[in-house]
Amino acid sequence: NKHLVKPDDFTVEEIDSIIELGMQIKQNPREYIKVCEGYLMATLFYEPSTRTRLSFESAMSRLGGKIIGFSDPNASSVSKGESLEDTITTVSKYVDIIAMRHPQSGAAQQAASVSSVPFINAGDGGNQHPTQTLTDLLTIKSCMKRLDNLTIGMCGDLKYGRTVHSLAKAMSRYKNIKFVFISPEELKMPEYVLNDLGDTQFIETNSLDDSIAELDILYMTRIQRERFEDRDEYERLKDVYILDSKKMENAKSDMIVMHPLPRVNEISTDVDIDSRAMYFEQAQYGMYVRMALIMKLLGISK
Ligand code: CP
Repeated sequence: NKHLVKPDDFTVEEIDSIIELGMQIKQNPREYIKVCEGYLMATLFYEPSTRTRLSFESAMSRLGGKIIGFSDPNASSVSKGESLEDTITTVSKYVDIIAMRHPQSGAAQQAASVSSVPFINAGDGGNQHPTQTLTDLLTIKSCMKRLDNLTIGMCGDLKYGRTVHSLAKAMSRYKNIKFVFISPEELKMPEYVLNDLGDTQFIETNSLDDSIAELDILYMTRIQRERFEDRDEYERLKDVYILDSKKMENAKSDMIVMHPLPRVNEISTDVDIDSRAMYFEQAQYGMYVRMALIMKLLGISK
């Protein structure tokens, strides 16, 4: 079985074909309403989620498939001490495909290794969030009409933000990409991510004001309160970047603003009406790309 634990589990060609199918589904979603009839998906969420869980569940439903699962692990036998491996081994006897979110980095790899059906990492701790990456790639392709020749600013919590870890790795595989990593010293992109970018150019800075004018894409992130060990440090850093309509005046007229959401204060609501703000569309692209991913992993074509 093919699993998706991290973005480079798929080749660039496989990713491009999922993006292409996602674009086709977005054009004509009604053509796909029965393709997964008779298939069952489990969504196992050990950590809170709005977009990822509901977009997986709406994706499977819109393909004609069915869903079981939990969003409160205390309602499952995990609360009795069952191991992750035993849970996944059992659930994979019931369903055709599993999507799982877990608070521990590495849990997705652990689960995939015992799954007898295709397994999708829906986010594991501060590690990876590959279906957010597919969402982001479909959004970029749809808005910019290309995935190469782009200057991408990633701003905020680059240390704990798993979405930017996965996206940086995925975008580094395309040509002429330049990254501008904008963060305070305490929340810099981890070395292991930087070391995995090959010869892709990047700079690190703490100034959004000095960088915004050169960007084609500004990817804002939330400061991840739940992953800080030191509460005082969170309080000190939580509002370090706030994108507002004033800052947007210095951005290119065709720059797009992305954010995996949820946001807290890092994008002021006055930016929402700016035509360059793409974060709610991005959440919708997430459903279409997950429809494409489910079809690909189940080996289903229209
Ligand atoms: N983008 C994202 O993963 O959102 P949720 O945490 O709401 O799923």
